[in-house]
Amino acid sequence: MNTVAPPNASLRMDLDRVLFTEEEIAARLDKMAESITRDFEGGTLTVVALMHGGLFFVADLLRRIDLPLRVECLSVASYHGGTESSGRVTLLQNHLPELAGENILVIDDILDTGRTLHAITNRFRESGAPNRMKVGVLLDKKVERAHEVDLDYTGFEIGNEFVVGYGLDYRGLYRNLPCIGVLKPDRIDTPLS
Ligand code: IMP
Ligand code: MG
Repeated sequence: MNTVAPPNASLRMDLDRVLFTEEEIAARLDKMAESITRDFEGGTLTVVALMHGGLFFVADLLRRIDLPLRVECLSVASYHGGTESSGRVTLLQNHLPELAGENILVIDDILDTGRTLHAITNRFRESGAPNRMKVGVLLDKKVERAHEVDLDYTGFEIGNEFVVGYGLDYRGLYRNLPCIGVLKPDRIDTPLS
């Protein structure tokens, strides 16, 4: 019998429920990577990864893709609810990668209101036409969107609940959980808006 505690065991105790295990995520990534490799076959890909949420997802996904590719990381801050209810999306760097004529795959952890991916893909279209642009997310949260976003690659669909792990955070924490889950109510200090 294996009695060794898994890594992250105490962090996992903060979860109420696990939605997707490490193994389920890995199996899904195999399939997503296969589709991406097939779709861009014969070309070179530029992957734009939105940070920090896409950190683990992009690292694991790209190592399964059998294509020559470059990686650009963009830091994006989105403000939800509270006093910033306009849902502003701010790019945290002045410099955008050169994307004219490139085959681009934009990767984010989760599609929620759609503000982030809408803003980013619009910026890319305006600032020098990419050859092709596709969008992939690990999670598609089934909620009413502020902006519609067409997804080309989706890991899993989830309901309207706040999730953490595998890159997704609550107040900057829990990104390093290998699975994705829902926090216990007593781990959430204030109502999430
Ligand atoms: P959108 O702009 O509303 O589509 O939201 C996208 C961003 O909100 C994501 O990149 C995440 O950083 C964050 N987000 C949305 N839902 C969740 C969640 O359930 N857990 C953690 N972060 C989330
Ligand atoms: Mg994010």
